[in-house]
Amino acid sequence: MIRTQVGIVGAGPAGLLLSHLLHLQGIESVVVEARSRQYVEERVRAGLLEQGTADLMAESGVGERLKREGLVHHGIYLRFGGETHHIDFKSLANRCVVIYPQNKVVADLSDARLAAGGRIFYEADDVSVQDFGDANSQTRPRIRFRANAQPQEIECDYIAGCDGFHGVCRPSIPEGALTVYDRIYPFGWLGILAEAPPSSDELIYAYHERGFALLSMRSPEISRLYVQCAPDEDIHEWSDARIWDELHKRLATADGKWKLTEGPILQKGVTGMRSFVVEPMQHGKLFLAGDAAHIVPPTGAKGLNLAASDVLVLSRAFTEFYASERKEPLENYSKTCLRRVWKAQRFSWWMTSMLHLFNTDNAFDRRRQLAELDYVTSSRAASQTLAENYAGLPME
Ligand code: FAD
Ligand code: DHB
Repeated sequence: MIRTQVGIVGAGPAGLLLSHLLHLQGIESVVVEARSRQYVEERVRAGLLEQGTADLMAESGVGERLKREGLVHHGIYLRFGGETHHIDFKSLANRCVVIYPQNKVVADLSDARLAAGGRIFYEADDVSVQDFGDANSQTRPRIRFRANAQPQEIECDYIAGCDGFHGVCRPSIPEGALTVYDRIYPFGWLGILAEAPPSSDELIYAYHERGFALLSMRSPEISRLYVQCAPDEDIHEWSDARIWDELHKRLATADGKWKLTEGPILQKGVTGMRSFVVEPMQHGKLFLAGDAAHIVPPTGAKGLNLAASDVLVLSRAFTEFYASERKEPLENYSKTCLRRVWKAQRFSWWMTSMLHLFNTDNAFDRRRQLAELDYVTSSRAASQTLAENYAGLPME
C-alpha cells in the first residue's frame, strides 16, 4: 500500500501540472497513468498557450525550453471574402499567446516531476477510485490499479481526476450527483502536421464557402493545418494531394498573392467537436480537472489552457488546506473554476459558430456570419472582446 496526500489519475497536462505545483508547496502526490510515457509525450494535440499558461509554466520553474522554443504571437489573422484582417492582441488587450506544443508541455512537466523524485506509474491497468464519496468521512479514498501485473493501492487524503474525457473518475461518481451540459457539432476537423515552414507569421483562421480552415504551426519548420470536415470523416478518403488542394482553396486570398507552402505530411487525424461541462466539478473528496470535467470545440484553443487554470485553483486550495486546515477553498473549487470554464465555453462556441458552415445554414446565416466577421474586424470594441478572450481571461 502506498500512502500519499493527493492521488492523481492521469499524466496529461492537468495531472502533471497539478503534481508539479503541489510539489512546490511541499505537498506529496502520486500520479497513475494508463498509457506509456512515450505515448503520452508523443500524442499530437493542442499547440497554443495563453499568456497566463505560459507565465504559470515560467513562474513555476518549468519554462526554460518554452522560453527558448516557444513562438510568441501578438495576434491572429481572420481571413474571409478573400481578404485578411489582423487582430492585434498587443494593442487591444496588452497580451500575447505562445505557440508551444502540448507534447512538449507534457515532456517538460514529466521531466521536472521525475527529476524531483516524483512518482508516476505509467501503463497502469484497471484503474479504479474508491471511498471518496463523503467529504467528511474518516475513511481515506483509494486508487487501485495493476502495474506490471501486480495489484497496487494508493491511500490518499484526496483524489484529483485528471484523466481526460474518457477517464474513469467522472463515471465513478454516482449517477444523479452530476449534471451534464453538452452540445455536439455537426462537423469535425481534419488536422495535419507537415514538414513545411509556416506560410504566415501568425495563425490564420479562414471562413470559406467550402468550410473553415486554420493555419497554425509548431516551429519555424513545422506547420499544423486543419480543415472542417464531416464528424465521422474517413481519413483514408483524404490523400495528401486532396488535403493540400482543399487547404489551398480555403486559405486563398482574392488577389492570389498569398502562397501556402507544402511539405511532407508527418501525421493526420480527424477530431470530433463538442462542448461539454459537468457540474459540479467535485464530489466528496474527488476533484475533476481539465478534460475530465469539460470539453470545448478547438476553435478558441482553450482546452489545454482551461486544464491549467483548473489545476492552479486546485493547487491553491490544497495549499490552503494543508497550511491551515481551511477547507473553504476546496469546497468552493468547482464554483471558482466554473466561472472561467463557462466564459471559455461561450467564447469557443462563438468562434466555432462564426467560422464554420453548419448543415442547417441557409443564405441568411452565411450573410449573418460575414456581417459578424466584418463587425469583429472593424469595431475596436468587438476586436477587443475577441482579443481579451483569445489571449486568456484572468486565471482567478
Ligand atoms: P488529457 O490530455 O486527455 O490527459 C488525460 C490523461 O489521463 C491521459 O494521459 C490519459 O491517457 C489518462 N487516462 C485516461 N483514462 C485513464 C485511466 N482510466 N486511468 C489512468 N489514466 C487515464 N485543444 C486545443 O486547445 N487545441 C487543439 O488543437 C486540440 N486538439 C486536440 C486533439 C485531440 C485528438 C484531443 C483528444 C484533444 C485536443 N485538444 C486540443 C484538447 C486538449 O488537448 C485537451 O484539452 C488537454 O489535453 C486537456 O488536458 P487533460 O490533462 O485534462 O486531459
Ligand atoms: C491550434 C489548435 C487550435 O484549435 C487553435 O485554435 C489554434 C491552434 C494548434 O493546434 O496549433
